Amino acid sequence: MAWRDWVRTVEIEPSLYAADFSRLGEQIEVLLRAGARVFHFDVGDGHFVPPVTMGPIVLKWIAPMIREHDGAIDCHLMVENPERHFEAIREAGGSSVTFHYEACEDPQSVAALAREQGLQVGLAFNPETSPEDAAGVADGFDLVLCMSIHPGYSGQKFMPEAIPRIRELRRLVPAGVFIQVDGGVGPENVRELYKSGANLLVAGTSIFGREDLPRSFRRLVQALA
Ligand code: DX5
Ligand code: ZN
Repeated sequence: MAWRDWVRTVEIEPSLYAADFSRLGEQIEVLLRAGARVFHFDVGDGHFVPPVTMGPIVLKWIAPMIREHDGAIDCHLMVENPERHFEAIREAGGSSVTFHYEACEDPQSVAALAREQGLQVGLAFNPETSPEDAAGVADGFDLVLCMSIHPGYSGQKFMPEAIPRIRELRRLVPAGVFIQVDGGVGPENVRELYKSGANLLVAGTSIFGREDLPRSFRRLVQALA
């Protein structure tokens, strides 16, 4: 399956980084029932970003339940040498890999390696990178991810300059390429982000930071309307 088949015009993607890992499967199940279909899975290596987060050994336990519901696992690789992880991610059941512009010299050839593994592919860029620079090498990618925080941790404050950056990105990349935003997304900014051109909205704390997950997920979906 391809991104085009997963995305229903716009998706709120729960970011599992913010989940309660003692109840990970249960929380995913609840969100699948609430209508979530694309889950965001953050891999941090302790080099490209300070923390070590999670990787294929976690992924392999949750991928089957998400795929059973025709869902997808969007893996955000906050790592150096992203290509080293593609095979393990594919084997563990990941659907796509999004790696960073800042982490590789030739994003096009790294994307080709992901495609060889049968993975969909995204290009992420940090707040210090200009949308022009990212868009300039994004040809053939399925999605481009505009970070609205410095990558590394869940629960950071949204950087409002992401809004004009997304608008600019939307102008620069072909309409068929999805635009994703990650970091500090919540009910107060989700609609504006969508209107600015983002159609994949990653949400960690604004979903998992509350007791009632289906309710916080639905609140974001409703805020889009
Ligand atoms: C952090 C990750 C994000 C993170 C977002 O760098 O890339 O996906 O989980 O969390 P919130 O939505 O809490 O900012
Ligand atoms: Zn992320």
